[in-house]
Amino acid sequence: MTLPALAALACPNCGQALDQADRRLSCPEGHSFDLAKQGYAPLLAPGSNATTGDTADQVAAREDFLSSGVYDPLIDAVAAAARTDAPGVVVEPGCGTGHYLAAALADGREGIGLDTSKYALRRCAKRETGPRRAPGTQGGLAAVLADAWNRMPVRAGAAAAVLNVFAPRNADEIARILHPEGVLVVLTPRQDHLRELVDALDLLSVDPEKSQRTADQLGSVFEAEPADEIGYAVELGHEQVRLLVGMGPSARHHDGAALDAAVAALPETVRVTVAATVTRWRAKR
Ligand SMILES: C[S@@+](CC[C@H](N)C(=O)[O-])C[C@H]1O[C@@H](n2cnc3c(N)ncnc32)[C@H](O)[C@@H]1O
Ligand SMILES: [Zn+2]
Repeated sequence: MTLPALAALACPNCGQALDQADRRLSCPEGHSFDLAKQGYAPLLAPGSNATTGDTADQVAAREDFLSSGVYDPLIDAVAAAARTDAPGVVVEPGCGTGHYLAAALADGREGIGLDTSKYALRRCAKRETGPRRAPGTQGGLAAVLADAWNRMPVRAGAAAAVLNVFAPRNADEIARILHPEGVLVVLTPRQDHLRELVDALDLLSVDPEKSQRTADQLGSVFEAEPADEIGYAVELGHEQVRLLVGMGPSARHHDGAALDAAVAALPETVRVTVAATVTRWRAKR
């Protein structure tokens, strides 16, 4: 089977177009890359740091939590913001399990999910039909092992939309791969995102300077459209709380037994605030 979005991919060594024969991708310079048996394409550029990806446990928690529907309003908002008339694919650096990317593939667009976690890429490669995708409207997606802080294996101008959802944000590379009419969709948590759990479980809190830092990172290359603020509350049971903590950055900082004890001490269901901002950015002319 031909890898979806193949024409938008680029050789990580020389930047030229890739061709596919059986399970091997190769460029005119003779660089070649065999698809992993789990279906993702290993296209790490020289000098990449491939040790930054999420662990198997984090990815399993993310898969289960995002499949539960609790974040569907966020997924839908990102998908709606990614709609554009620009030609090209949808790219998500730091795509994780591919839930957001799959939902953004309306109108038959194809997608490219980039991540440094093989566990995430295995899930993403299987995500042919996202839970939020209307039947019959989707293109396929390619899961690609690549470091979002390095040169991305995507051809210049090939992306109609780039998604940035709780993930690395490399402004210069995003600007390079984005079509001139394309859109960068950024989801950032607001200060009170998951505030009840941050307080009760001593989780890492949202950096108060987060939105300013995002603007600083992107502002020299992009300009923002008015932001869409999404806020709602959900009632979560203990298992969902464990998944939510387990998929996030706090998972790396918490002792598992201490966290289990803290979750067990919570009321049976906890009301939790979800608060995020979705902003569309366009390249400065
Ligand atoms: C917090 S998760 C977000 C995943 C997805 N966007 C979502 O919201 O479900 C961050 C993701 O970025 C990936 N990641 C971390 N460093 C990366 C890098 N340098 N290049 C590409 N992906 C990276 C992690 O493996 C993880 O899947
Ligand atoms: Zn090459």
